[in-house]
Amino acid sequence: MDRIKIVGGNRLEGTIPISGAKNAALPLMIASLLTADRLTLKNVPNLADVNLLARILRNHGVDLAVDGKRPGVSQHLGETFHLTARDIVDTTAPYEMVSRMRASFWVLGPLLARMGEARVSLPGGCAIGTRPVDLHLQGLKELGAQIDIDAGYVVAKAPKGLQGNRVVFPKVSVGATHNVLLAAALAKGETVIENAAREPEIGDVAECLVKMGCRIEGIGSSTLRIQGRDRLEGAVHAVLPDRIETGTFAYAVAATGGDVTLEGTRVELLETALDVLEAVGASVTPVEGGIRVTRNGAGIGPVSIETQPFPGFPTDLQAQLMALVTTAHGTSVIRETIFENRFMHVQELARLGADIKLHGDTATIKGVPRLRGAPVMATDLRASVSLVIAGLVAEGETMINRVYHLDRGFERLEEKLTRCGANIERISAG
Ligand code: EPZ
Repeated sequence: MDRIKIVGGNRLEGTIPISGAKNAALPLMIASLLTADRLTLKNVPNLADVNLLARILRNHGVDLAVDGKRPGVSQHLGETFHLTARDIVDTTAPYEMVSRMRASFWVLGPLLARMGEARVSLPGGCAIGTRPVDLHLQGLKELGAQIDIDAGYVVAKAPKGLQGNRVVFPKVSVGATHNVLLAAALAKGETVIENAAREPEIGDVAECLVKMGCRIEGIGSSTLRIQGRDRLEGAVHAVLPDRIETGTFAYAVAATGGDVTLEGTRVELLETALDVLEAVGASVTPVEGGIRVTRNGAGIGPVSIETQPFPGFPTDLQAQLMALVTTAHGTSVIRETIFENRFMHVQELARLGADIKLHGDTATIKGVPRLRGAPVMATDLRASVSLVIAGLVAEGETMINRVYHLDRGFERLEEKLTRCGANIERISAG
């Protein structure tokens, strides 16, 4: 298994290109199931999760061609995927695949809408919380699906097709909103989703569905009004920039000090996540084609924050923020309200010298003057990258084990940081 070695203490200076968003690329790829025509996606990040979903979609019959990179074209521009689901050859998504990546459960809505049936494995356990799928099933039932659970599989049927309806989610869920939005695009008549998730990735998928011929009102709001169509067409769509990658590098710069321009990203994708950075003493300036983050001299101040659905503070940046405030002047309080078990980084940050106390869903982080390098273990995607931030700050060497978690969601992480002066290298298992 690969490891990452970091020798901390360097300021970060330069530019970092931001990749396409993993959490938009995945549902956009799944949207290809809705049409027999070609869906072309640009700016797709080269990530383990994207490659795994490509395998899952191929199983359903999606033909995927990836444009080769011409000489001279920046390696930092994402890939272009051409996805064509002319014939769906298999409506089953097996346990071996869905259990490895939860987002693949989102094939349920589109397969059901297009084929009138789908058999998709329940995702099973997850490191960050229980993560049920009841809201997905509630939404699809409201569009007329008959749903049974059989031997660990969701067996969904809608022999006469799905019927538009009003779906009111009792709780905000990104995945349930994607599933129902994708299904509603091929349902008969109008679907109104209330209390929809407002994450920018939902908006990106909705914009793509509009290009495919669907009419959608309320994009970006918590009420989505979708006019279903009998058939959708192909389209060309560029995946929006990754706001979590943006926030991660912004926090890394704030943690180490320095001056970095994050290229190809936008402040409005982050909202609260960048406000927090200003509040702790870093400076964030929108510049042409990106965002400039600087921190000089004075250190980091403490924060008090809780995770919330967008536009609130994202759970996907909670671990990174915690790494940042481990060396703040003062005591920070971070409450995790989205997932019940998303604190696995706490023990690992403690190995580097952080002073963190956990009480239920709340972490209290007393700033320490410095962290010291140590061997640590990556546990999930965002927890692993918080260890990278802490390693960049810590004195001496930090060795991060199990970095395959990082490869699920961060493209060329070591290369991007090295270009800005970090001392970080991957040690391949051989
Ligand atoms: C998405 O997961 C993201 N995944 C997660 O990013 C992200 O942390 C999460 O949204 C919250 O922003 C992708 O986009 C691929 P939810 P999702 O449904 O859709 C509960 C990463 O690191 N819930 O919004 O699974 C659930 O348990 C990943 O990139 C139900 O109760 O999250 C949680 O408490 C990790 N019933 C809350 O809702 C349901 O049917 C929000 O989950 C569905 C969810």
